[in-house]
Amino acid sequence: MPLPDRFIEDLTMRNRIEEVASSYVNLRQRGRNFVGLCPFHGEKTPSFTIYPENNSFYCFGCGAGGDIITFVKKIEHLDYLDAVRFLADRAGLEMPRLEIDDTVSKLRRRCLEANREAARFYYELLYSPAGKEGLDYYHSRGYTDRTIKHFGLGFAPNGFHALLDHLRKKGFHDEELLSAGLCRRSQKGHLYDFFRYRVIVPIIDVRGNVIAFGGRVLDDSKPKYLNTGDTPVFKKTNNLFALNFAKEGERTLILCEGYMDVIAMHQAGFTNTVAALGTSFTEDHARLMARYADDVFLLFDSDAAGQQGLARAVDKLRTTGLRTRVVRIPDGKDADEYLRKHPPGDLKLLIERSPGDVEYQLSAIRARHTLTTTDGKFAYIQEAVKLIATLSNPIEQDLYAGRLAQETDVSKSVILQQLDSMKRRRKKRAEREVLPQELKKERQETQRINPEALQYPEAAAAEEALIGLLLMHPDYIEAAARELPAEDMLTSLNRKIYALLIERKQAGLLVELSLLAVSFEDDQMAYITRIWNKAGTLGGSEDDMQRYIRVIREQGSLSKINLNGDGSDDDMRRAMEALRKIKT
Ligand code: CTP
Ligand code: MN
Repeated sequence: MPLPDRFIEDLTMRNRIEEVASSYVNLRQRGRNFVGLCPFHGEKTPSFTIYPENNSFYCFGCGAGGDIITFVKKIEHLDYLDAVRFLADRAGLEMPRLEIDDTVSKLRRRCLEANREAARFYYELLYSPAGKEGLDYYHSRGYTDRTIKHFGLGFAPNGFHALLDHLRKKGFHDEELLSAGLCRRSQKGHLYDFFRYRVIVPIIDVRGNVIAFGGRVLDDSKPKYLNTGDTPVFKKTNNLFALNFAKEGERTLILCEGYMDVIAMHQAGFTNTVAALGTSFTEDHARLMARYADDVFLLFDSDAAGQQGLARAVDKLRTTGLRTRVVRIPDGKDADEYLRKHPPGDLKLLIERSPGDVEYQLSAIRARHTLTTTDGKFAYIQEAVKLIATLSNPIEQDLYAGRLAQETDVSKSVILQQLDSMKRRRKKRAEREVLPQELKKERQETQRINPEALQYPEAAAAEEALIGLLLMHPDYIEAAARELPAEDMLTSLNRKIYALLIERKQAGLLVELSLLAVSFEDDQMAYITRIWNKAGTLGGSEDDMQRYIRVIREQGSLSKINLNGDGSDDDMRRAMEALRKIKT
């Protein structure tokens, strides 16, 4: 891809990873680096590390890692070029003009353009005679014209090609309409509109792009809702409806179940309300919320499905460290219905008085046990203490312990003892698990990404050490290349990395992590980042370099013996000999 190195260097210089990452992750300084809870997987102890020195990140928990471009790609779910654009925007750099528009990036752009045009079409139709039914429906739900305009609500008419005809006239190709999920192809091969005879809710992301649509029937027919499936610009597990508006407020969000609830909430003045889109709440959703909020209020339906969804959401939100409270709606099924019968002030009171997630979870545990029997009471205390032990704040722990004591008529000191031993057990388990687990993970990751490491473990380790050292000291690259040509590396991924380093150096180009991002997959970038940062803990002198090269060479000739040999005892003896020499 023809982005000039100079531009990428400039881009990485002006976008420091610790600054960019800190808007997604709470970072704490540890020595020269920063650590925090990984935004790419759920964890309770931080294993996500930022290395300002080479502008990189690595998570020891899930193996995600790379340079700043890789970070933005992953966290914003962008492709390479769009991640570069994102960083250029952030730093106020102008993107160089590209000769060829990358095809993936082009398709994404066309999908977004088609969506925007579709949203306009649905909205305009709503206020035309053909849209009367849709407009009546919204009005019957109590939505004002102001609300309709604010959310850009629309209407898809009955029939199979109203939108199709319109978008074709605007110059969109069939493939683009199919990719965007706006049209489907029939068995006979004709395209037809995906949304028909439904009121339409456009889904808009935080950057203001129309990324998808939801459509609801006007009556009780099924399916009630239809949503855009995954497309190049939309993944339902990591987008929230109305976040584009909700993100503007204080760092507090309200989470409802459906977008109709959200619209009613915004109309009633709760403009910090969002909802997941036709799917259960995921860890990705939770992390997305954590970017814009510290506190989340959950406002779910009081039916069984709603309560199940609630338990799941509480769980996901807790792992991201958000403070979570649960609002119970006394009558009426959901927020929308409640607001039709009560003034907003009533809901405001319910929200203000809502209990924290711990209290909510405690009452859920309590409901599972019969507190009138000794066994039941004991089981309840056990489970409750286990929950309290997971809280990070000691004051909070003490408060809940006190409450539990009162409630069960067991002395607080006994509960605290129980809590202490539970905490000690948790701590021991964590200590026992963390280090060996990290090492094991690391080895597994390496073998997945560079499978030949399994066949040549010693050579692979030396290759990694050598590459790490050369990344730290690019001025050694030419000397290394003279002694060890690239083809002498035994494992193919290391060979590719090493060859690229030599090639760049010989061409007088800079060796920098972000300049490699374009040549490697994300998980390969994570691997390179890991070995680079690990190099800091190994020897980095010229002598060390010589030692690594020697091991690689010796392992190389050893592998040739194995390869050419006939498997006789003699071969075996020579192989053992070679092995012993390396070890001493
Ligand atoms: N949902 C869906 N597909 C369905 C049913 C529900 O995608 N067949 C999703 C929608 O995102 C919907 C949410 O689940 O907004 C909540 O569903 P439900 O409680 O049934 O709908 P309400 O929001 O109450 O919708 P309405 O008030 O219009 O009946
Ligand atoms: Mn409803």
